Amino acid sequence: MSLKGKDILGMRDLTEEEIVDILDSADSFKEISEREIKKVPALRGRTIINLFLEPSTRTRTSFEIAGKRLSADVINISGSGSSLAKGETLMDTARNLEAMRPDILVLRHSGPGAPHMIAKLLKSSVINAGDGAHEHPSQALLDLLTIRQNKKELKGLKVAIVGDISHSRVARSNILAMNTLGMKVTVVGPPTMIPVEIEKLGVSVEYNLERAIRDVDVILMLRIQLERQESLLFSSLREYSNLYGLTSEKLKKAPSDVLIIHPGPVNRGVEISPDVMDGPHSLILDQVTNGVAVRMALMYLLLGANLETNN
Ligand code: CP
Repeated sequence: MSLKGKDILGMRDLTEEEIVDILDSADSFKEISEREIKKVPALRGRTIINLFLEPSTRTRTSFEIAGKRLSADVINISGSGSSLAKGETLMDTARNLEAMRPDILVLRHSGPGAPHMIAKLLKSSVINAGDGAHEHPSQALLDLLTIRQNKKELKGLKVAIVGDISHSRVARSNILAMNTLGMKVTVVGPPTMIPVEIEKLGVSVEYNLERAIRDVDVILMLRIQLERQESLLFSSLREYSNLYGLTSEKLKKAPSDVLIIHPGPVNRGVEISPDVMDGPHSLILDQVTNGVAVRMALMYLLLGANLETNN
């Protein structure tokens, strides 16, 4: 099992077979994190650099843990702790990091397309850990793994993605992946948060949350990304929360076995009420656990692909 490409930049680049291979590998890597000694020698002697130029808790930590559980050497660099803060360009930073011969560079950046530019420049594999409002492929993969563990078959599942669709790299990556896997996606939110012509991505649009969740298998709630909005896209957080916040009252309209996922970080009490967030339908912490396994699978499969290329 290996991946055809050198990099993981977006979900459009992965075939259905590759996505299933990644999820299957992640399922088998999960067991390592349950052991007392959480380490296997699979990537011994390999070097992974995490270059995170935007804040992150889950993604950065899980890439680091994933690399270490596979015995790779993992180096973490943040924007303020690097020479980017002294004016070095991203391209020059990437060239200098490559001169130290890493095997994988994991990049989070606020600029859409930044990992794609770096990937063209480097021989090392590049993993996109979130590029602005563009894509977050490893998040979509861990979302899919979490859904698959609870619903077994992904094909044909109905998913409502709720919230700030315009600014969401998680929504875009999930829409692309879910289309590839034959799932049915409805995006839900106020018109100001839904991109014009999003139907061209193969999704339906609904503006009423209670109507949208009536017969879905999964509700994917998104964070309101105030830091990416140039001006507020609704009159107040309270109004947004009243209309689109998922509460136990609204959840009564959904099927009794509906799954709720959220990529985090959560604005607790804004897009989701505390009782729903911590309630029986919520898989939010399972997603975080699965994030380590998915990132282990990505690193393992990518370096497998590179070994074959180099032979
Ligand atoms: N889901 C996600 O990307 O979370 P972090 O920003 O904490 O990495």
